[in-house]
Amino acid sequence: AVIKKVKFIKSAVNPKDYPPPHFPEIAIVGRSNVGKSSLINAIFKRNIAKVSSSPGKTRLINFFLLNDKIYFVDLPGYGYAAVSKAERNKWKKMIETYFHTRENLSLVIMLVDSRHQPTKLDIMMKEWLESLGIPYIVVATKADKLNQSEKAKTKKIIRETLGLPKDFPVFLTSSKEGTGIKELVSYILDFVSK
Ligand code: GTP
Ligand code: MG
Repeated sequence: AVIKKVKFIKSAVNPKDYPPPHFPEIAIVGRSNVGKSSLINAIFKRNIAKVSSSPGKTRLINFFLLNDKIYFVDLPGYGYAAVSKAERNKWKKMIETYFHTRENLSLVIMLVDSRHQPTKLDIMMKEWLESLGIPYIVVATKADKLNQSEKAKTKKIIRETLGLPKDFPVFLTSSKEGTGIKELVSYILDFVSK
């Protein structure tokens, strides 16, 4: 099996509390409620990250370790309307600091909801990652909610809306049904081993 050992390491806000940067790191970003924590659970095949039907569940930077060799990071989401300006600024500062200081960050997985066109905030996130030169891929979540014809169109709509080239890696996944998870995990493991 590819997933041999998984461990929750810690939650942190400030760099001094991040675990030592001894392994390559994969971070998951995306709107609140898009399914970041659920994706961690689907990849790890157990309920290790906290999931909630109401947005804004994950508030800290959560570090997990896979097979004693790759960190996975579950980040708080953006774009939750009911959040105060002060909360939004706190989020921005926390993520910005993480992106700017985390030297072992290898890849960002940017999640978008497969049922909707990527939002303005998704476009801003993608542009932010590009401006920082952080490698990223896109994962569309909740594919189990789509019918066949919608499934066929999703990746194209996402690439067009985010302004990505035709061959840019976009994965269509369902954490609920496990669809697309194997392919995603292979890609990630391949990516970090290069
Ligand atoms: P925040 O921590 O608030 O930023 O949210 P998150 O992105 O971590 O989302 P989370 O994983 O907590 O999931 C939000 C809701 O979406 C929960 O009710 C999940 O059960 C649901 N959900 C996540 N992934 C899927 C999926 O693949 N299919 C379906 N049908 N529901 C999903
Ligand atoms: Mg979460």
